Amino acid sequence: MSLDGRWVLITGANGGLGLATSIRVLKEGGAVVLACRTAAKADATRDLVVAAAGVNSDRVVAVGGFDMLDPAGIEAATAALPPVSIDVVFLQAGGWVWADEVQTVALNGATVEQTVAKNVVGAHATLRALMAAGRLSPGARVVIIGGEGARGVPGAIRKPAFSDVRDFERHLAGVRGDTPYVPIDALGVAKLCAALWAQHLAKRVQGSLEVVWFSPGLIGGTGGTAGMPAWKELLFQRVAFPILVALGKAQWPESAAEKCVDCLAGRVGRHGDLLGAPEGTALGPLTDQRPMNRRFTDEDFQRVLWRRCEAAAGSMPLETMDRDIA
Ligand SMILES: NC(=O)c1ccc[n+]([C@@H]2O[C@H](COP(=O)([O-])OP(=O)(O)OC[C@H]3O[C@@H](n4cnc5c(N)ncnc54)[C@H](OP(=O)(O)O)[C@@H]3O)[C@@H](O)[C@H]2O)c1
Repeated sequence: MSLDGRWVLITGANGGLGLATSIRVLKEGGAVVLACRTAAKADATRDLVVAAAGVNSDRVVAVGGFDMLDPAGIEAATAALPPVSIDVVFLQAGGWVWADEVQTVALNGATVEQTVAKNVVGAHATLRALMAAGRLSPGARVVIIGGEGARGVPGAIRKPAFSDVRDFERHLAGVRGDTPYVPIDALGVAKLCAALWAQHLAKRVQGSLEVVWFSPGLIGGTGGTAGMPAWKELLFQRVAFPILVALGKAQWPESAAEKCVDCLAGRVGRHGDLLGAPEGTALGPLTDQRPMNRRFTDEDFQRVLWRRCEAAAGSMPLETMDRDIA
């Protein structure tokens, strides 16, 4: 239950929560692979985390090419990783897509709503590439970042609700019908998708990997407000977040990273868990999210999402994990 001597790969390690978690992992005696979008961001982050944690740089590998919207690039970047065996994977790159209209991406001929693509398809592509390249230690722990938006946050994020699986499929393909696009609501759906993905994966890799969906709760002071109009971003960062933190309704990245490291180390969260703040809140004691949105456990939704991830980023070579157990 300690990260001492273990290798942790973190996607999006250069920003907010990913950066704070990388430093915390190093302070706990772990080693990190900073899997960033570009080599320049990864290299700059390596210098920063080495200095902040006061550790030797041989415990840090910095790699670019982990663009969540580029499965082929992720595969190439994974194949080029130095020969370390990854004990823990933290799939945390993502966030919202700040736009007026729904955005889609075409990945291997499959059209995917962009928020789902960067929060979930990119995670799928990363884990797939690690499996295919034989980079995971037996029994490796996979933590995908969640978010309370997956079951809605009153007054902030609309509870994701779909009339049926076809309705959900249309959202995945970026077909919105009459509903206006609201970036934060789309992020809520992407976090629901991350939970559906984690639930499906947990069943498929039972006994060979540990899979947990984990949200530390609302965080201020990250890049999560990037893309907003400048005045709005300033208002959030300088006024709203300090007040929310003072009221105990949000936290700074260091506190969130401490919780994430508890989860990465296995001190919190068992295989198949979906953990986040209690119903109606965005921060609080870690609570099972499943009773809060019945869709979390809907197997039709899980299958539809999984199929789209496979169409966009390739089939997960689960047989390689079975071979490891055998
Ligand atoms: N902030 C919160 O309240 C909160 C709460 C719960 C969960 N979360 C989740 O925690 C994660 C980190 O959020 P944050 O608040 O720390 O945001 P952040 O500071 O904006 O960090 C996001 C990270 O994801 C990376 N990223 C974004 N799009 C990417 C892409 N297409 N390919 C590769 N990397 C990409 C960014 O890299 P670049 O620098 O290259 O853009 C950055 O490193 C997100 O998944 C978010 O949804 C956040």
